[in-house]
Order: sequence, then structure tokens, then C-alpha cells
Amino acid sequence: MKYIVVNIQRIAMNSILAEDEEMLVLAPIESNRFYELVEEMSSLLGSGEPDMRNRLNNLQTDYRNFLTSVLSMSAQFVEGIETSKDKLAEINLLAQHFIDYLNELTEQINQISKRNIDEIHDHLRNSFFVNLISLGTIFIAIIVALFFMERKLSRPLFNLMSFVRGLTGEEDGLSKRISLKGRDEIGELAASLNSMLDSLEKTTVSRNLLMEEVDERKQTENALRQSEETARVLLNATSDSAILIDTEGTIFAINEIAVHRLGKIKNKVVRTDIFDLFPPDIAKERKAIADKVIRSGEPIQFEDQSEGLVFNNTFYPLFDRRGKVEKLAIYSRDITDQRRAEEHQQRIEQMKLVGEWAVGLAQEIKNPLAGIKVSIEVLLEELKISTEDRAVVLKAVDEIKRIEVLLKSLLNFAKPTKLQLMIVDMNELLDQTINFSLRHPFLSSTPLKKIKVSKQFDENLPGMMVDPMQLQQVFLNLALNAIEAMPDGGMLDVKSIYDKNTDAIKIEISDTGEGIDKGMMDDVFKPFFTTKTKGSGLGLAITRRVVEQHGGVISVKSDPGKRTTFNVYLPLITSSDKEIDVISTTE
Ligand SMILES: Nc1ncnc2c1ncn2[C@@H]1O[C@H](COP(=O)(O)OP(=O)(O)O)[C@@H](O)[C@H]1O
Ligand SMILES: [Mg+2]
Repeated sequence: MKYIVVNIQRIAMNSILAEDEEMLVLAPIESNRFYELVEEMSSLLGSGEPDMRNRLNNLQTDYRNFLTSVLSMSAQFVEGIETSKDKLAEINLLAQHFIDYLNELTEQINQISKRNIDEIHDHLRNSFFVNLISLGTIFIAIIVALFFMERKLSRPLFNLMSFVRGLTGEEDGLSKRISLKGRDEIGELAASLNSMLDSLEKTTVSRNLLMEEVDERKQTENALRQSEETARVLLNATSDSAILIDTEGTIFAINEIAVHRLGKIKNKVVRTDIFDLFPPDIAKERKAIADKVIRSGEPIQFEDQSEGLVFNNTFYPLFDRRGKVEKLAIYSRDITDQRRAEEHQQRIEQMKLVGEWAVGLAQEIKNPLAGIKVSIEVLLEELKISTEDRAVVLKAVDEIKRIEVLLKSLLNFAKPTKLQLMIVDMNELLDQTINFSLRHPFLSSTPLKKIKVSKQFDENLPGMMVDPMQLQQVFLNLALNAIEAMPDGGMLDVKSIYDKNTDAIKIEISDTGEGIDKGMMDDVFKPFFTTKTKGSGLGLAITRRVVEQHGGVISVKSDPGKRTTFNVYLPLITSSDKEIDVISTTE
């Protein structure tokens, strides 16, 4: 409002205090702005201040009178009519009057403004005081509320908490009771806590008894675990398979080797029936043995074979305090290697015996036989007999020759010669021997024509330290057997392979002949075993001996009617420094 008044004054001054006529021309220019400001001010005053509003109206009238005079004078000035000094003085008077009025107005407005500001101040002061009072009231109310809350809630809760804390900390904590009386929730809580403590105290007694029992049991369990651990260590410390069963056959303990041999998972066999692990017929046999041990209280030992392995089994009885058989410990030892070694030794002994006998016999037969042969040959030359008879006699001579060959191999078998080792090209030796076998005088030529031969020789085969004469015998025996097994013809496959990893060579001789029955597999290497009318049964026996003399192994597999394969594995020996594990027979 004040700002408006100042503006009105400024405009009035600009218009009125004109000293000369030129200034008068400018006076009406701001008249519009003057009216606007007066209007604005009267609207600001609103319906209040009626006196002020009157004055504003008067001001407008004064201004209009003043402006009319000014305008008429300035029009005269524009037309070139000179303004009289009186006229100017009159206008100045009017202006003075207007200014005085304006000053009065300004003073009045200042008063109004001041009054308004005072009113606002008063109002503010009053409301601050009121607020201060209400804040204080609230503060006091809060403090009072807190005080009551502390009495009603916090303190009992705190008491309750420290009581509960005391329960856990002290020995006789459970015999204490809280004395919190009240009908509120906290009182209820305290009451139920007390009744809970009552029942807890009661159960504590039985709990203590129980704990003692548990302790005792734990001790027994520990002792049991310790003895179980000892048993477990003992069970696994042996290379035998070991199983502990009760008299019903339920497995109680089993060691790793037994689990492995059974091909089962440990957890799946413990607490199961041992007899379910065997085929019905074997299970029946085992059960009978177990029953016998339970009845007699004496251990029983027996041997059995499965999948080419030999086992020595023992059923030991374990007694309870009253001397009754309570459990059985079953031990099973793999004695395959031991049995093989025994058999090998046995064979050597057998050969030695046979050899001595054969050498004697052969020596006995050899000389008279040579005499018979010579005599027949002499007679053949001197006697004049028919060609037919001559053929018969010649046949007899042939048979004598065959007997001589047989005797030779018998002597060879019985009295093995020491190996004459030299570096040999095995492929060449094999090739020559196979070719020779195909032209062997003992073989009839008919089946030979129907036999196809395939040779696959490993070119990387290194030179080897062997006895070529002996190995020739080996290859010849195998090739002859193969050819003899294919009377209607077939395929003879010969292979040599060098295995770098095992540093050994493998000679494979296979045929598509009649094959060997499963039941005969173990017999073919035995001396004098033959299925042929004119066979000696010494071929494979000699062959195996020579291979073993070279530190090698021979094996056979046969699918009767399809294919029979003999494999000879020889360790690669390239210098004479290396000892060959020669099996001594007669020496
Ligand atoms: N390749 C083969 N195919 C079928 N049977 C064979 C073969 N090699 C050996 N045998 C069997 O093994 C037996 C023993 O062979 P061996 O010791 O060489 O004596 P022989 O040849 O004098 O019978 C033979 O009689 C034969 O029954
Ligand atoms: Mg033979």
C-alpha cells in the first residue's frame, strides 16, 4: 500500500511541480497510471476504512480538476497562446492543494499500516504464549504417563527378566518363585511362569535319573564302539575275506575284502542273510557246514572254486559265556596263486618222473627198433618179392620211422636241452616255420590245398634273444595242430605284435577248425593228452615248456566250430646279459 502511495506522489510531483510550460505537456501522460494506482489502493482497503475511501475519492476529484487546468493550459501552449503568470500561479495553487491533501493521505495510510502491523504482532505474541502453555501441558502429561508406565509395566517386566536370568544362572534356580501380583497380563505371565517352574522342578528329578542312565549307556556304548573298532581293524588287517555271522546266518560284520569279493556295497550286506548271497545249491552246502560247526563246536575247513579262482574257507565257532556257539567267523583265503604254483611244481615232478621213465624206455626201444629197420631194409634188397608185397614192407618201414620221430620227441621232452640263445628276427623265423608246416611230410596234401594262410607281421618287431631251434618247434607244433584241426580246409591266421607298454611280443596262431571243448581246455597242455589216433600228445606239452623256458606264457581260447587261438607272449630280451628264467627240469 505504501509503495502505491509513493508512486502516486512521484507521478503527482512529476506533473505538478512543473516550473515552465513545456513540462505541463508531460503532466497528463502519467494520469492513467495515477488512476490505476488509486483504484488498486481502494481495492486493497476493501470494505474497511470508509474514511480512507472518501479521501481517495476526493483525491481523484482534486487530481481531475488539476489535470483539466493543466490540459487546457497545455492546449493553449500548443496553439502558441502565451500563458499568463496568474494562470500558472492558479495551477500551482491547485497543485499545492493536491499535494497537501496527498501528504495528509500518506500520513493516514502510514497510520493504518502501523496499526495493522501492531495487530499482527499482538496476534503473534498471543498465539506464541498459547502454544507455550499447550506444549508445557503435553510435556507434563508425557512425564506423568512415563512415570505410570514405569510403575505399571517396565518395573514388573524388569523384575520378571532378572528373575528369569537368575533361573538359568544358579544351581537351585528352579526352586525359586516370582512374587509379582497383579491382575494384568504381567501378573498372569508371572503366575504361569511359577506353575511352569513347578512342573519343571518335578521333571528335573526324573531327568537327572535319566541322565545317569544315559551316562551309563554311553560308557557301555563307548566300550562297545572301541571293541567294534578293534574288531574292524582286525577284520581289515587280514588279506583274507572275513565275515561274522550269527547262528541264523545274519551278517554282523564284514571286512572290505569280503565286500569287494562279493561285489556288493557294505551297507547293503550288513544285517542281511549271508546265504542269500550265494546261488541256492552253494548256499545249501554252506548252511550245512555252518550247522555242523554250530552243533559240534569244531571249526571246519574246506576248499572251493569259483570263476577260475581257488578259495580256502574256514568256519570258526565263537562261544557265549555259557559255552554255546553264538556266532561264526568265516574266513576265506584266495589260494589260486599258491595252487597254480603247486600244480606247476607237480607238473615238473611228473615230467621228471615220466621223463626218466621215457628216456629209459626210449633208449631200450630205439636200438632194437634201429636193428629191425636195418634188417627189413637189407631183406628188401635181397628178397625177390612182388611190388605189392614190397609196398607193404615199405609201409612197415615208414611206421618204424614214425616211431623213431616219436621217440625223438619223447627224449626231447623228457630231457630238455639247454637253450642256445642268439639274436633272431622273429618274423623271419615265424614265416619260415609256417611255410615249412604247410609242406610237412606227415600231413596229407589234400586238406592243405583248401587252407588259406594270412600273415600279419609287425614290422617294428625288434631282434630278440631266443633259441631259434626251440621256438621253431613251438611254432611248428601250433601250426600243425591248427592245420590238423581243419581237415575240410579253413583259414590259418598268423600274427606278430610288439607291445611297447609291456615290452613283450605276442605271436598269435589261430584257425577256423573244429575247436576245443570247454572241458578239455585244461588238458591240452598235459603230456600224452591227445584226441588224435596217431597223435603223441606231446606237442603242446613241449611247446609250453619251451615258452616258459624263455620266460613267456602261452594261452588258448576257443569257440568250437568257429575259431581257436593260441597266444604266445615272450618278454623282449635283446642281450645275453639278461638272465632268462629257465625252468630246470632234468638238470
Ligand atoms: N588248433 C587246435 N584245434 C583243435 N584242437 C586242438 C588244437 N591244438 C591242439 N588241440 C587239441 O589238443 C590236443 C593235444 O595237442 P598236442 O599236444 O599237439 O598233441 P597231438 O597233436 O599229438 O594230439 C590235440 O589232440 C587236440 O585235441
Ligand atoms: Mg600236436
